[in-house]
Amino acid sequence: MDQPHLQLSGRVVVAPDPDSLFQQLGQKLMATAQGAVGRRGVFHLALSGGLTPRPFYESLATDSRYSGLPWPQTHLWMVDERLVPEDDNRSNMRMIRRSLVDHVSLVADHVHPVPVLADDPAAQYEKQLCDVWGQADTPRLDFILLGMGDDAHTASLFPASPALAVNDRWVVRTDGPHVTPPPRVTMTYRLVNVAREIAVLVTGAGKAVTLGRVDQQLRRGGADPHRLPITGVQPTDGHLTWYLDRAAAGS
Ligand code: 6PG
Repeated sequence: MDQPHLQLSGRVVVAPDPDSLFQQLGQKLMATAQGAVGRRGVFHLALSGGLTPRPFYESLATDSRYSGLPWPQTHLWMVDERLVPEDDNRSNMRMIRRSLVDHVSLVADHVHPVPVLADDPAAQYEKQLCDVWGQADTPRLDFILLGMGDDAHTASLFPASPALAVNDRWVVRTDGPHVTPPPRVTMTYRLVNVAREIAVLVTGAGKAVTLGRVDQQLRRGGADPHRLPITGVQPTDGHLTWYLDRAAAGS
């Protein structure tokens, strides 16, 4: 069901409940993956952490509807990561391994955790991206799954944080008074916005107020990433789709 009452940038998909929303998102993900492998022989996927996508990741691993996902040709990247060891409960990689990676046929070398223990994890992650794409090429992700926090942050791009303004890096470290601890590493707008498909997954009544603020801001005339970082997500040459359940959409 596409719902016109929210005026968000891009396409808006609203489903009655999270399960049917996950199915629509999963079908889109699979079609994008198959298309990427058909055209370029590889699928670059970037996933977010947080609570919302966990059951979606579990369904990708267990539901036979998604058996057509080309895992052996997929590279998995982290949209953002908390700077904690991988055995810490707050690690996004830990959650994504447990819910998805451990259960599908991804090639070990194609799973790209942020090197959280390195001296400069952001620079090393950026180097990994550039090495995989080749220095001359823009690292263009095929599909990036974002979430949205109550404060409208996305990835680890938090309101009023310096990372919002970085436009000469693909990945940065982010910390300080505006960032929910622990310190993090995040993809920048520059990297997010060149992706071919950007999906923003938001569920639950708790997010309805924030979505309302985003909607109002966009109606008033445009993005305000400083206050509402999710509004800085604007594909340069790709597609943006919001996946909302009815509770989040307030309908
Ligand atoms: C993270 C995420 C972050 C997340 C939002 C929403 O590591 O925290 O990548 O951007 O998507 O905070 O999180 P919830 O799904 O838990 O509400």
